[in-house]
Amino acid sequence: MEQTTQISPADIARQLEFCQKAAALSARRPQQPLALVDTYGCQQNEADSERLRGFLAAMGFGFTQNEEEAQIIVLNTCAIREHAEQRVFGNVGALVHVKRRHPDTLICLCGCMVQQPHAAEKLRTSFRHVDLVFGPQALWRFPEMVYTLLTQQGRIFSVEDEAGSITEGIPVVRQDRGEAWVSIMYGCNNFCSYCIVPYVRGRERSRRQPDILAEVRQLVQAGYRDITLLGQNVNSYGKDLPEPTDFSALLEAVNAIPGDFLIRFMTSHPKDATLRLFQTMARCEKVAPVLHLPFQAGNDRILKAMNRRHTRAQYLEKIQALRDLIPDIVLTSDVIVGFPGETTREFEDTLAVLEAVRFDALFTFLYSPREGTPAARMDDPMPREEKLQNFNRLTALQDRISEEKHAAYVGKTLRCLVDGASGDLRWPLDDPHYHELTARTPGNRLVRTTGPETAVGQFRDIHITGANKWSLFGTLV
Ligand code: 5AD
Ligand code: SF4
Repeated sequence: MEQTTQISPADIARQLEFCQKAAALSARRPQQPLALVDTYGCQQNEADSERLRGFLAAMGFGFTQNEEEAQIIVLNTCAIREHAEQRVFGNVGALVHVKRRHPDTLICLCGCMVQQPHAAEKLRTSFRHVDLVFGPQALWRFPEMVYTLLTQQGRIFSVEDEAGSITEGIPVVRQDRGEAWVSIMYGCNNFCSYCIVPYVRGRERSRRQPDILAEVRQLVQAGYRDITLLGQNVNSYGKDLPEPTDFSALLEAVNAIPGDFLIRFMTSHPKDATLRLFQTMARCEKVAPVLHLPFQAGNDRILKAMNRRHTRAQYLEKIQALRDLIPDIVLTSDVIVGFPGETTREFEDTLAVLEAVRFDALFTFLYSPREGTPAARMDDPMPREEKLQNFNRLTALQDRISEEKHAAYVGKTLRCLVDGASGDLRWPLDDPHYHELTARTPGNRLVRTTGPETAVGQFRDIHITGANKWSLFGTLV
């Protein structure tokens, strides 16, 4: 078994020294310098941005959403679909005016998009106002790169093809008060034929269990009530570690941490989602009764072309096994419509899976070719118009199912985590005890309710009184 490449404590200490040196520069300014961090894409990127903010805070920066008053602007980008990339290029292009008005503002791009050679090249040649470009595997060197730019002229590009490493001890500034993301592994080895992730996020590597447990323990003590274990493919957790362990063992250990909190995890791959995992979920009382299990397509020929390494029947068998153990499990999934060569007849097998499983919610994507992936070189004869028609059939079916599933909640009382308040909307008007609140069922469905703002961050019983296809409505008991 291969040893995980762990960045040494000395290397991290060196980065923290760069933070201190940058903080000394910040302290000399007439006002505290501000940073803007803008995140695109998935939860892993959100988690990375929390570490970028941790480093920035250690460098003496405060935070702003206004690019005009920021001394450093960081766009943490996504590459999963072309649309995500176009948005980033549009927004970086617009920053040229900010740079003209404030030439000292540092403009930084990081994340998955910039790790693709074609994107890095375009930034190098056509976006000369960008000062710093670095990929996900270089994030732990952010302080050094920023300090260099604060003290020297020039641009920095750190986008070498790196397998990736594990870094412990990076400071974190979390965005949310009740819900926290904890990365347990990075990268992906699956190489689904449409997906860019394995190329930009490097190989699978797992954090050591004691480090993960220490982080969760600390979060629970700090009052976090909803912990999501994150990884591109959490079910292969531990395969690269020297000690024998797996994701089920990790779940079991997190579940044993004292405290009143919920455990969620994402994303799971059907091929590695085992009966042992389902049994562990059923046994561990803190593991939320919800599973996000992407199936991508319902037709076996397409699944094979996608290199998913499971069939429709195997997927459905796993869902059945899970439901036998946890009958009220909330199920969500990802689906791609219009994979190269998928006929409308084959697409209808995807609809059949929706009917068979009846997911609570679905994330639906139109296939987007990614340069360098095998699928991008496959024949793709179906006109966009027909793909869109199929896409609309899919969302219409799922909307109907979601609405029916949500309607079945009406009349029930559920223990929900109140996770947000909207400060400006009050009902009855001006009564400080009645805020519009949002909450999550154990299965992570959104509930809208009203009550005192002090309920935020607490588990409260909510009686569900109404529903639509997007959310539930209820009253605090
Ligand atoms: N085109 C469309 N959707 C994609 N996904 C990944 N790559 C692509 C692509 N090239 C979807 C998959 C995955 C989710 C995160 O994004 O459904 O599960
Ligand atoms: Fe992409 Fe497949 Fe890895 Fe998910 S499992 S990140 S879809 S390659």
